[in-house]
Amino acid sequence: APARPLTVSVIGCGYLGAVHAAAMAEAGHRVIGLDVDAPRIAQLGSGRAPFHEPGLAEVLASGLSREALSFTTDPAALADGDVHFLALGTPQRTDGPGADLSFLHAALDALIPQLRRRAGRTTLVVGKSTVPVGTARELAARLADLPGVHLVWNPEFLREGRAVADALRPDRLVYGIGEDPHSPAGQEAVAALDAVYRPMLEAGVPRRVMSYESAELVKVSANSFLATKISFINAVAALCERTGADVADVADAIGMDERIGPQFLRSGIGFGGGCLPKDLRALLSRAEELGAGDSFGVLREVDAINAGRRTRAVDLAREALDGQLAGARVAVLGAAFKPDTDDVRDSPALEIARRLAAAGARVRITDPAALPAVRRLAPELTTEPDPQHALRDAELVLLLTEWPAYRALDPRRTARLVARPRIIDGRGVLDLPRWRSAGWECRALGRP
Ligand code: UGA
Repeated sequence: APARPLTVSVIGCGYLGAVHAAAMAEAGHRVIGLDVDAPRIAQLGSGRAPFHEPGLAEVLASGLSREALSFTTDPAALADGDVHFLALGTPQRTDGPGADLSFLHAALDALIPQLRRRAGRTTLVVGKSTVPVGTARELAARLADLPGVHLVWNPEFLREGRAVADALRPDRLVYGIGEDPHSPAGQEAVAALDAVYRPMLEAGVPRRVMSYESAELVKVSANSFLATKISFINAVAALCERTGADVADVADAIGMDERIGPQFLRSGIGFGGGCLPKDLRALLSRAEELGAGDSFGVLREVDAINAGRRTRAVDLAREALDGQLAGARVAVLGAAFKPDTDDVRDSPALEIARRLAAAGARVRITDPAALPAVRRLAPELTTEPDPQHALRDAELVLLLTEWPAYRALDPRRTARLVARPRIIDGRGVLDLPRWRSAGWECRALGRP
């Protein structure tokens, strides 16, 4: 636990903020989560996780029961805060390229009057949101006339499905500061944030101090690089399909080179979610604004390759059904953008299911967590909580999100449920020889 528990606020209790608030309470601080969304605040305050995230309900309950954690919609609760985290969303703008920063600015509108009441005491404002490079300095200007207030930009790298573990034990901490790190003000800002992260630093988590601009770029570059790795292996997969090579073998063997590494080389229907697609587009549009767009054609290509995977999956389904999607009974296993989450933002699985339905297929979709979101966003699809029911009488099965329950399906028993044992593995996770020997006709992207 930290030497002195701090009073910490987390402004914005979406995915990032809710997890971060609970993690800060675990780290020994007194934490107040603030959001304008009253139902969400009520839900969090009663210890219920507003989304599917393993371990979140447990850390919420622990913080609430120790009275280390509370949630409110009232900005007056920020008055005592030593540290304020900004965990607001920065969605893609709807009226043009770039990110919508209005939630961040609104948070500062609410926070600044409370900061004025602290009369010179050291107070940290810590940006966690993913923002276009240049944003932190712009926000710092709004705080410039407040003595004792520092803004630090501290990007977050947590992964959905592993968010609690990632928040408690990150790979690294990045501090972007506005001052010279050797100046008294710079040192004060770093020391103040070190006090917040004391338990993690003591456990050996490395931290790096850099400028605002560098810290902002670390975040979007990391996500864009991960997206690039995935699209690269998916481009290789397209070549594998034309030559009879197996992308799983290629990925496995190139990943053994330490300089490349095995992660994010799983080929399939591509990446989705609330971060990778948005962040790579945001980096591209910011680079264009700053006159560096020419160097980022690679990201345009990464996005295009990713979109192509979804089309390829629909084409494979059509081929498997001998050109006849209309009227075909299709079972789709998985809707979330990846396992262990109920998030369907930009989900390749959901988009493919919708395109199959739009082409006339009778799609039944199942997912252990994401069906409520599917019903909201894609009412044209038939949702089926029980995978056995989704599979019954299907003429084609598509595995599109690699939940453990789907990976563990028994090919023999599953064959007895369907009308025709035909499956497309969109995630490269099935043991194809085993499925084939159980009588299945199998296709997988990038594999013979
Ligand atoms: C991503 C980053 O991994 C986090 O470090 C970052 O903090 C987060 O975005 C964010 O900016 O908030 P996340 O969106 O939770 O995390 O998901 P990932 O695990 O990165 O997966 C993204 C997508 O790539 C998924 O659709 C997944 O199925 C796909 N993927 C991943 C592949 O297709 N192949 C792979 O080898 C790995």
